[in-house]
Amino acid sequence: MTLAKDLILILDFGSQYTQLIARRIRELGIYSLVKAYDTDIKDIQNLNPKGIIISGGPNSVNFKQTLKPNKKIFSLQIPILGICYGMQLLAKEFGGKVIKSNKKEFGDSKFIITKKTKLFDGVEIKIEHKVWMSHADKVSNLPKNFIRIGESTNSKIAAFENQNKKIFGIQFHPEVTHTLSGKRILKNFIEICECEKSWTVKNISNEMINKVKSDIGKEKVILALSGGVDSSVVAAILNQAIGKQLSCIFINTGLLRKNEVSEVKKITSSLKINLIIVDASRKFLLALRGVSDPEKKRKIIGKCFIDTFNAEAKKIKNVRYLGQGTIYPDVIESSSKNSKSDVIKSHHNVGGLPKKMKLKLVEPIRDLFKDEVRKVGLELGLPKTVINRHPFPGPGLAVRILGEINHEKIRILQNVDYIFIEELWSRNLYNKIDQALAVLIPSKSVGVMGDKRQYDYVIALRAVNTTDFMTATASHISHKILNEISTRIINEVDGVARVVYDITSKPPGTIEWE
Ligand code: XMP
Repeated sequence: MTLAKDLILILDFGSQYTQLIARRIRELGIYSLVKAYDTDIKDIQNLNPKGIIISGGPNSVNFKQTLKPNKKIFSLQIPILGICYGMQLLAKEFGGKVIKSNKKEFGDSKFIITKKTKLFDGVEIKIEHKVWMSHADKVSNLPKNFIRIGESTNSKIAAFENQNKKIFGIQFHPEVTHTLSGKRILKNFIEICECEKSWTVKNISNEMINKVKSDIGKEKVILALSGGVDSSVVAAILNQAIGKQLSCIFINTGLLRKNEVSEVKKITSSLKINLIIVDASRKFLLALRGVSDPEKKRKIIGKCFIDTFNAEAKKIKNVRYLGQGTIYPDVIESSSKNSKSDVIKSHHNVGGLPKKMKLKLVEPIRDLFKDEVRKVGLELGLPKTVINRHPFPGPGLAVRILGEINHEKIRILQNVDYIFIEELWSRNLYNKIDQALAVLIPSKSVGVMGDKRQYDYVIALRAVNTTDFMTATASHISHKILNEISTRIINEVDGVARVVYDITSKPPGTIEWE
């Protein structure tokens, strides 16, 4: 069962833009999925796509061991669009010729449509269009029965088609915003595939709820609710689908933001979700006593979390399912044969939870991108403040208090964080920043307050802008605003002598300090 009626399937040959193709198609109201380039034909037939897009990729079709799709996709009699490597692959498959280009094209390029055709409907013919290219090979000879429909500065054949077979190739990347007519071209392809728009928030929400209902039946589900966007949206979906069969477990690790417990209560009580709150803060802080190594801290927290969750889950009889907030980029990254494993983020997962518990997984949002998760959350009645929340790491404030942790440092950081975030909201900056946080540096610095000399901690404020949290730059907050925030923190939080602002990018820095 898929989440919407008509589907465009994207076969991933390792392009860095593959996810973007799926996002663009979905933005046009059509469901799309990314699958590995060599997906079995039976699996493809089961998905029943209305069209296939073959992505770009780093290979050359002239390599001895080049990547190829299952040949049978060419007999499915559905439209196929090849992008970049995908175009070259189609050229070769149907008897054309691909050669190494003596002039590579990377980045902004010029493209001219040489023939009026449905794929370029609404895009002007015979004038230069700005497109995004990234190729070293080019098609030098067309396959039989294919015609040239566009050229670029360095390739005479930069687009081709076979109207009868409904097979199209374009050398540039329509999914990248630098290609100004890219979205229109993808829309035209969707029309060629005769897709009906059904990827709307309302439909997706309904389909997900129905799918959970039929998958789970009368069984019980538990979910670790963190108060973040993903787990809150999963809770809302499960709640609408199975109501009282769902139990959410919220673990207070003692390392949470100020008021976190009451915030989570607010979310669940407005949606009438079953919530179990476990105050395990003593256990976590005891286990962390005297530990200053960041990796050790993370491991201890991970273990305490699993133990606490397990113990609580055992109290609920006959649970068969564990809810998880896996989202689509995680699925693509871990299933794609071409993507490098995501080592930077691997330590973030609370590994072992499902395996140890022998529960079946229910992952209702595993087909959604983050922006879609947010839209579904709003549709299901979650408040905007939850939906737009910045990420907060599982180990919580523990990775923002450098070195050893104690009650006093947690109190200080909770209060500082609260002021910083409140200031960003009130100045309309919160939603312009992707993640903001405060760090306690356990060195003491001298200051003067009133007439008294004080000797207290240093606080670093950090705010970053990022699209995927893999790279990030420090947000530009004016000196005036930083000054005012610093004054508030020093005046209102005992124990802080100095405030600094972190301007490090990622890389080389990470977003968190530990
Ligand atoms: P770094 O610090 O590696 O973080 O640049 C990238 C993003 O991941 C978040 N992060 C975590 N999230 N558990 C999580 O759920 C963790 O242990 C963890 N560590 C970092 C971080 O806040 C940022 O958004």
